[in-house]
Parts: sequence; C-alpha cells; structure tokens
Amino acid sequence: MSDNWLTSYVERGPRSRELFEQAKRNTAGGVGHDLRFARPFPRYIDHAAGSRMWDTDGNEYIDYGMGNAACLLGHSPPEVLDAVREVIGRGLHFGLDHPVQVEWAGLIQRLIPSAERVRFVNSGTEGTMLALRVARAFTRRTKVLRFEGHFSGWHDYVGRGAMPPYDRPTSAGIPPATLDTIVVIPAGLDQVEETLRGDPDIAAVMLEPSGASWGRVPLTPEFNRELRRLTADHGVLLIYDEVITGFRYSPGGYQGLVGITPDMSVLGKIMAGGLPGGALVGRADIMSLFDFTGDPRHDRHGRIQHLGTFNANPLSAAAGIATLKQAATGRPQARADRMAALLRDGMEEILEREHVAGYAYGDSSGFHVYLEAHPGSGATDRAAVRTTDATRLKGIPGNVITAFQKNLQIRGVDVLSFMAGVTSAAHSEEDIGETLDAFQDTIRTMASNKIIARCGRWSGGIPAAD
Ligand SMILES: Cc1ncc(COP(=O)(O)O)c(C=O)c1O
Repeated sequence: MSDNWLTSYVERGPRSRELFEQAKRNTAGGVGHDLRFARPFPRYIDHAAGSRMWDTDGNEYIDYGMGNAACLLGHSPPEVLDAVREVIGRGLHFGLDHPVQVEWAGLIQRLIPSAERVRFVNSGTEGTMLALRVARAFTRRTKVLRFEGHFSGWHDYVGRGAMPPYDRPTSAGIPPATLDTIVVIPAGLDQVEETLRGDPDIAAVMLEPSGASWGRVPLTPEFNRELRRLTADHGVLLIYDEVITGFRYSPGGYQGLVGITPDMSVLGKIMAGGLPGGALVGRADIMSLFDFTGDPRHDRHGRIQHLGTFNANPLSAAAGIATLKQAATGRPQARADRMAALLRDGMEEILEREHVAGYAYGDSSGFHVYLEAHPGSGATDRAAVRTTDATRLKGIPGNVITAFQKNLQIRGVDVLSFMAGVTSAAHSEEDIGETLDAFQDTIRTMASNKIIARCGRWSGGIPAAD
C-alpha cells in the first residue's frame, strides 16, 4: 500500500468522486450531514450487512459508525427487516395512530425507568427541542443549563456548548435572544450549585449522562447522583439525553445501569431500529402537559402543542419493536460491550508498544482515542497526556482526525466521528483483530509523518518506536 494515504484514498474512490461532483451541484454543502463531509470527497455507501459496509467502489469496511450508533444489532438484521416488510404490506403511512405504535410505547415504558409516558418524535433533535419546551412550560422558567461539549442535536435552543469555543454559537443564524437562554458551564458540581443558586430562571439541566459525545469527556455515576440531588433541591428538571446511551448502556439505558431516574429523557437512534424516530419520555405529571382536558382555556393556552406528520410512523415502530425486543434481553449489549473492551485494550497495548502519546478509553460499547498532536507537545509519557479537559478532548486538531480516519479507511475500517466509534452485536473477534492491525499501521504512519507525538525526552526529533 502506498505510504501516501491521501493518494490511496483517492485511488480507491473514482465512483464516490463522481457522485460528489454531482452532489456539489444539487445538494447544499454537498452532503446530507455536516459530519459526512470529507475532502477531497466523501465515500458513498452502497450496502451494509452485519458489521460491514461496502462503498460504491466496492471497498469493504468494518464499520464502527453503525448508522450513527442507531444499529445496535448490526446492519440489516433479518428480524428487523422482516418486521418492516410485514407492516409495509399494510401501508406506508396513515397520518393516524395505529396499534404498532401502542406496543412500541409499551416496550419503551417497560425498559426505561423515567418513561412513565412516551411521546414520539422523528429524531433526537426533535426530542431535545420538545423536552426544552415542556421544561419551560412545567417550571415557568426559561433557561437550560448545559455542560461544555455535550451534543443534543442541531436546533437553536442547543446552539451553544457542543464544541469549542463553548461560549460561541455552533452555527450562524441563531437569534441572540435564543442564545441567551442557554447557560454553558464546565461539568463541575461546584459550578452547577453556584449557577443554580444564582439564576432562578433555569428550567432544566440537560446532559448526556455518560459525558459529552457518549463519554468522550467522561462523567461518573457519582456526578450524576449529585446532579440529581442538586436539581431536585432547586426545583430544576433533570433531562437525560439518552439518544446514544439509551438501550445501549443497558436495556434501560444509562439510567437503568446506574439507578438514577431523571425527570425526562430523550431517546432516538436504537429506539427506532435503524429508521428515523425518537421520543421524549418522562414523569406522568410533567407529560400530562400534553393532555387535552376539555377545558378550552387550558387546551388552547395551557398545554404543549406538538404535531408532526411522521410521528410514530408504522415502519419505524415495527423496526423499533423488533430491535427493542432483542435489546430487552441484554444480550446484544453484552456482546457489543465485550467487543468494545477488546478493541480499547488492544488499542492501549499498541499505543504503549509504539510509545505514542495518547490513549484509548470509553464505556459500554463505545471507544474513543485521544492522540497528542505534533509538534512540540512535550509529552514524555502516556500517563501525562490523560486529561478530563473538554476543550482538549473535543478539540483534537482537524489534521490529526483526518489522518486517523483516512488511514483507517484505506485499511478497511471506518469510525463514527472524530476518533471514536461504537460496536454492535454483529462485531466479531475477527473484526477486532483486523481492526487492531489497521490501527497499528495507522498509528505508525501518523507518527512517522509527525502528525502525532511519540513519548520520550523532547529534543525535536522523533524517538524510535523500540
Ligand atoms: C447525544 C445526542 N443527542 C441528540 C442527537 C441528535 O439526534 P438526531 O441526529 O437524531 O437529530 C444526537 C445525534 O447524534 C446525539 O448523539
């Protein structure tokens, strides 16, 4: 394989390149999702099955993106495909409620501790947007408290905090008045207490309970327990964004794993079995804000308005039920967790052996890699680069991320985003072995190209690997 990874990437993708040329002329920004953008062109996927996917040029990948973490069972699981085929036969979409959605809500209610009531939406973003509307209506307060680095979708009300610099909007076009409703602080209990004491207009704390980006900036159960106490003491609602952790960390999500019940939770991804879908779930008294009471004044002014053509569509409901029935057993999670642990341990061994300033970490079925960039990092041992700083963990330079992703891709491995991914129940020990070989070659290439730091007394040169 050519040492020049960019050349290899280009050589492997003539059809993808052609498709991107067309897409640039008909698709705004050229892609359907910001994270899919890649230079000189992104890859276009033809099909996927199990732990693997194939692009339009016939290249095969062991996939750790798994449909943006939606596919816990792997790609195209037969029981989910069968369930969708079965409901398709009865119609694609009614715009009215149907029996499958009632079963779907029941399953979610049974599995997720905070789900006394379920309201369906079409995505995680819709779920967090609705959660904040409900929190404001219930508390009659306006603001949301968020933590640095936590991602909860792309709508305006979470338009600050997901990426550094955390005090700046995540997008152009967000009204300043909306940004004023978002308070972003580092995830520290003292800061939480001080903020809640000082600002009586905070309606809710909304967070990824595992820590930003499913644990890239990790949080502990102890932090979550104390946060539960603090929010309750201040009459502030606690909202768990379990769009990634839901059904993944355990059948009951993060909350089921650690035994902490938030006031509301947002679900998505796995919940709809690989099709679009999501839900806001929560305490019955809060969710009663959706109820029609028959009192015209209340029904017009006192309740939450919520519509949506495709809410609880039959196809997503069927895929969701088939997936959640499997997830309820805990078996897919156990398998995926074991594969991720093998991967994290193997990556750690390689980084140690290669004297690279970085580390692999994560919980459940996720993995994250932190690599210290060149030049002059001053890194002298791997332990010294361990950090909990959100800006460092979420601020890895773009050239490091690109080199990491492309080097893995030309060796047949794909990650979800940045330098992180998820495993599924379809991943095997053979997949992990192949992935670790690709990881080792990637790390060696990046180090020899001086993209990442090797540990050792820093004298301007690169210490030898052995
Ligand atoms: C934690 C978290 N919340 C919310 C979202 C937004 O979900 P969606 O992409 O379905 O709008 C995501 C998406 O990746 C997420 O990871």
